Amino acid sequence: MRTFVVIHRGRLDLEKDLALLGFRELRCSDNFSVWGNEREGYSHKTANYFREKSYLRVFESCFVVKLEESEFRTEAIQLLFTELAGETYSTGIDLHRNVQCYETLYEGARKLSTQDFVKVLDFGCGPGTVLASKIHHQIEELVAYDIVQENREHSSLLGMNVLQPTEIENLNDYLFDLIICSYVLHYQSIEPKILNKLIDNLKLGGIFAANFHKSVGLEWFLNCLESRHKLKLVKRPSSFGELVFLVKDGSDEKK
Ligand SMILES: C[S@@+](CC[C@H](N)C(=O)[O-])C[C@H]1O[C@@H](n2cnc3c(N)ncnc32)[C@H](O)[C@@H]1O
Repeated sequence: MRTFVVIHRGRLDLEKDLALLGFRELRCSDNFSVWGNEREGYSHKTANYFREKSYLRVFESCFVVKLEESEFRTEAIQLLFTELAGETYSTGIDLHRNVQCYETLYEGARKLSTQDFVKVLDFGCGPGTVLASKIHHQIEELVAYDIVQENREHSSLLGMNVLQPTEIENLNDYLFDLIICSYVLHYQSIEPKILNKLIDNLKLGGIFAANFHKSVGLEWFLNCLESRHKLKLVKRPSSFGELVFLVKDGSDEKK
C-alpha cells in the first residue's frame, strides 16, 4: 500500500515538508487534508519525520496527526477511509486476518447467547469484507453501515443491505440480535451518541461484539457507554487485540 497521512488543513509548513518527502495532497475535508506518496511503503526519512511530528500510525502505512477531540477524530478518520475506499482498502489488507476476526467475534458472541442471531448489523463494514467470511451464510438478515459513502456503495453493489447515515441516526427499535464491529473501534471515531443509539437498538439478550486492535480505545469505549444500559461486559484476549462482548441483559430505563 502507498503511504497516506492526514494533517490539519492550511499548515503550510507541514505541506512544504510533505511535498519535499514526495507526497501530494489528494483530498480534503473542512479541517483536514490527506496526502499520499506515489510508491509502496515509506522511507526511513519519512518514518523519522512522522515520528518527530508525533503522527500516529493508525492502519497499515496510514498516519494521522495526533488528535484530542472526538468530533474531529471522526472527520479525520472518515477522510482517510474515503481515500482508501473500495479496492484500495480490500487489496491493502490481509483479508484472511480480517475475515478471521469477524468469525472469532461471531463465534464468541454465539457462545454467550441462547438465542439465534437473525438480524445482525455490521457497523464499519468497509467495502463488504464480511462477505468473504462464512458468517454471512449463517445470518438471515445482515445489515451493514459505514461512515464512508464509497464503502456503502461498494457493499451495496456486492448485494449487502446497507443503511444510510440518516437511518443510523434515526434507528428506532430496529432490534438487532448482534452488532459486530471488526477493526473499527480502535480509531475512536464513533460519536458516543451513535454508540449508545446502537446499544438502544439491541434486543434484550442481544450482543455488541468488537475487537480493540492492540487494545487501543477500550477505555474510551467503556467511558462512552451511558449508565442507563444494563450490560454484562465480557472481555477475551485474542490475536486481534482485546475482544469485548456486551450482553444486553436488562431493560433500558427509558423503555
Ligand atoms: C479498518 S476498516 C474495517 C472494515 C471492516 N470491518 C473489515 O474488518 O475489513 C475500518 C472501517 O470503519 C469505518 N468507520 C470508521 N469510523 C466510523 C464511524 N464513526 N461510523 C461508521 N464507520 C466508521 C471506516 O470507514 C472503515 O471502513
